[in-house]
Amino acid sequence: MLVNLQEVMSYAEKNRCAIGAFNTPNLESILAVLKNAETYKVPVIIAHAQVHESVMPLETIGPIMVLCAQKANVPVCVHLDHGESLEYIEKALELGFTSAMYDGSKLSFEENVENTLKAVKMVRKFGAGIEAEIGVMASSTEGSSEGTAGGKSIYTDPEVAQKFVELTKVDALAASFGTVHGIYTEKPNLDFARIERIKELTKVPLVMHGGSGVSREDYITSIEKGIRKINYYTYMAREGAFAAKDLVNSKDGVLFHDIVTAAVEAMRKDTENAMKVFYNIP
Ligand code: 13P
Repeated sequence: MLVNLQEVMSYAEKNRCAIGAFNTPNLESILAVLKNAETYKVPVIIAHAQVHESVMPLETIGPIMVLCAQKANVPVCVHLDHGESLEYIEKALELGFTSAMYDGSKLSFEENVENTLKAVKMVRKFGAGIEAEIGVMASSTEGSSEGTAGGKSIYTDPEVAQKFVELTKVDALAASFGTVHGIYTEKPNLDFARIERIKELTKVPLVMHGGSGVSREDYITSIEKGIRKINYYTYMAREGAFAAKDLVNSKDGVLFHDIVTAAVEAMRKDTENAMKVFYNIP
């Protein structure tokens, strides 16, 4: 069943767990993630990132995501990830998305607040939820795996986050505390004291971006400190690619649907391992 961000965030707060938010720029990843959510009977978020528009247009994958969410027998939130323009967010909402992230993290505080407020007004018309970001998430190609590209100043400042949440009243806040998007080139060094302080001051569900590639122990501590949504993509997509490559190299006569089946199963297994930690499933 299709639900909004507020519903899955309140589940996460109540159960002191994190909801997995998986980028799904193809049908294969949608199938992999929803299969796990249905097996373990947990709510989940499937997300399309604006940056994936060139890989898969929103207009193509959006209606498929919404349909799969409606048909699922667990709560599924369909989320627009890293929306950088209000027009793109509006397009997603018109397609039936129940949540959007407005990413103004590279703007000044004032501009970020101004645009986030416009996004808040827009999502409310559709009964959807909103996530925004304060602090800048490095990508592993931009700097070190500790997110220190440009210095610790890119980490979220707890007092600034508090002011931002008071002004915008967003449903969830993405915070920068040491994770990075993409493949980790060194072990991440997460600033848990920072995330604890941000939670204390803002009281909103916090979001970890760059969630794939983080250790089990770090997931658990992050959740204890207030992370309620974990964005996860690169390592799952890499597992799908490894499985496809292994299959093609293993024998002759492999057809495309064999590759797809192998990739779905590899992504399912990878996200199953992550989800067991996020939802504290034995
Ligand atoms: P990874 O691809 O590093 O797991 O990050 C996903 C993400 O944060 C999407 O917003």
